[in-house]
Amino acid sequence: MWGMIATWRMALEGVTKGCEMLGQGQNAGDAVEAAIREVEDFPYYKSVGYGGLPNEEMEVELDAAYMDGDTLSIGAVAAIKDYANPVSIAKRLSQESVNNVLVGEGAEKFAHKEGFERKNMLTDRAKAFYRKRKKEVAQQELKPYAGHDTVGMVCLDRDGKVTAATSTSGLFMKKKGRVGDSPIAGSGFYADSKVGGASATGLGEDLMKGCISYEIVRLMKEGLHPQEACERAVNLLDQELKERRGKAGDLSLIAMNKEGQWGVATNIEGFSFAVAVEGQPPRVYLVKRNEDGHCAFEEASKEWMDDYMKTRMAPVKE
Ligand code: GLY
Repeated sequence: MWGMIATWRMALEGVTKGCEMLGQGQNAGDAVEAAIREVEDFPYYKSVGYGGLPNEEMEVELDAAYMDGDTLSIGAVAAIKDYANPVSIAKRLSQESVNNVLVGEGAEKFAHKEGFERKNMLTDRAKAFYRKRKKEVAQQELKPYAGHDTVGMVCLDRDGKVTAATSTSGLFMKKKGRVGDSPIAGSGFYADSKVGGASATGLGEDLMKGCISYEIVRLMKEGLHPQEACERAVNLLDQELKERRGKAGDLSLIAMNKEGQWGVATNIEGFSFAVAVEGQPPRVYLVKRNEDGHCAFEEASKEWMDDYMKTRMAPVKE
């Protein structure tokens, strides 16, 4: 059995590519990297890779991570600028015995030395979103922080290897140097080939408070189905945050176990995900959280899919 699950509709083309590779017998490390690169390279996804939204100084600082569930090796970069595919740098770092997590200038130096492609990641479109948001913040007293559609994936190959990877530009208008959950092992991602993997999207500052990807893998290890594990972890963290802090940020999680069973949970409206397993082609589902905390999902309609792309590619009205 092989399979792949990922956060948001934007992962569909990546999941499709990754699954082609898995179907041909390629490994979960290469498949998850190729899948995330697909999302990083698409300029209209504005919170990952090229075209990602900038920080408050109008710089695109990117976070990414990779984990190999066989060896538990981790590689991650945070606040890296001007490199095309942070996930590949993270994967390369996972092969080092130490210095696995690099930030800012140090990450860029490593990437340069290793010959990774340099690229100006700030597009004209992202600049237009930045100017628009600046104006909205000034005129309507809107909060500057918004948008955290991280791509997070879990991948299982025929040999039973589980990997997880993430990539994001983080919060729109974040402070320079701000790091979210995505490059933090256990929070944004976790993979253990003996159990399965999980990955997160949402408000990094709150996802970190529950080490939530690790928690889901831990619950799966105790024998819970990925759906039960995701719901239990998300609902508990949501509840704790509301009790202790009066509110909870967005928390959305995906998981797959070593049998290829999968699950998702969220505390928001409008979460979507892409999933495929051997014998079932990649599909996008929309998640609805019921009042009892359980999540139901239905396949996205053609209208929804068409509208999604139209919205993503519409001109930015400043
Ligand atoms: N979940 C992505 C971030 O908070 O940066």
